[in-house]
Amino acid sequence: MLLFSGSSNILLTDKVAGELNTRVAQSETVRFADSEVRVRVLEEARKEHCVVVQSLAKSPDLFLMEMCQFAEVLKREKAAKITAVIPYLSYSRQHRVNRKGESISVKLVASFIKTAGFDDCILLDVHDEEVLNYFKIPVQHLSAVELFAEYIDQKREEFGGADLVVVSADEGRIGFAQNLASILEVGFAFVQKERSLEQTDLIMSNKLQSEVKNKEVIIVDDIVSTGATVLQAAKECLEKSAFHVSLVATHGVFSTGENVLLNESVFNKIAVTDSIDQGSKNIFEKLDIVTIAPLIARSLLNFV
Ligand code: R5P
Repeated sequence: MLLFSGSSNILLTDKVAGELNTRVAQSETVRFADSEVRVRVLEEARKEHCVVVQSLAKSPDLFLMEMCQFAEVLKREKAAKITAVIPYLSYSRQHRVNRKGESISVKLVASFIKTAGFDDCILLDVHDEEVLNYFKIPVQHLSAVELFAEYIDQKREEFGGADLVVVSADEGRIGFAQNLASILEVGFAFVQKERSLEQTDLIMSNKLQSEVKNKEVIIVDDIVSTGATVLQAAKECLEKSAFHVSLVATHGVFSTGENVLLNESVFNKIAVTDSIDQGSKNIFEKLDIVTIAPLIARSLLNFV
């Protein structure tokens, strides 16, 4: 297997390589002054199973183009199979038309990936399962739920001990939150959210379904971008007399400045996975990073 890294999450690719006891394959990415990108593969790919790891976060369009260029080269060089590992799939929140005239952007992203030459794909906690229908190549859809359960179990005291309840930040995460609650053998609740379609960081109304009084709450979400959703959910829980709130979310997008906002927020503790490289400047005191490298390595070994 040749394991290539796009430039968005080299740290994660290194860890996956470590798990697989292999090295990261050689390639070169150049960015021109006008921001165009050019990829060059520096390995003999013929008849090899080639894997490209790329998170489509921070500069999604650029990283998508870079990732697709890998496939274009590897296809021409007659790789036996080309697998895309996309720990964070941008545009996954644009999976349906909410208002007439909107684009189903993630459908387009899925078609780029196939057209570029990828034969299959590994994704992690995509925003909505509907997204998977747009992929016309086989997809392994992984979940970070067990990794989070293991992590919380190890830090149970920091998360508030025995009286925990898992709260889904909106209806979209109910399945994930129920799974997590059932593995941890704790209670479950969810928040009903209504977001403004004009101003995406504005939550119109939140309604907590079920009881959190005197509980230690763990709020879960797939993505934290502006932080508006999880902060509103936390507020709702505290208003309903929860003791403390913590947060676990698969993808820490943390659009500009949210690291400070969240660090100074009501959350006791915050955990995200390394699906997105946080670099050094985004790391904040309350944040723990749970690695998905073993999950991806297992998936590459067992399923692809
Ligand atoms: C949307 O429904 C997602 O599940 C997340 O709740 C949302 O993307 C988080 O975005 P933000 O942090 O900007 O509220």
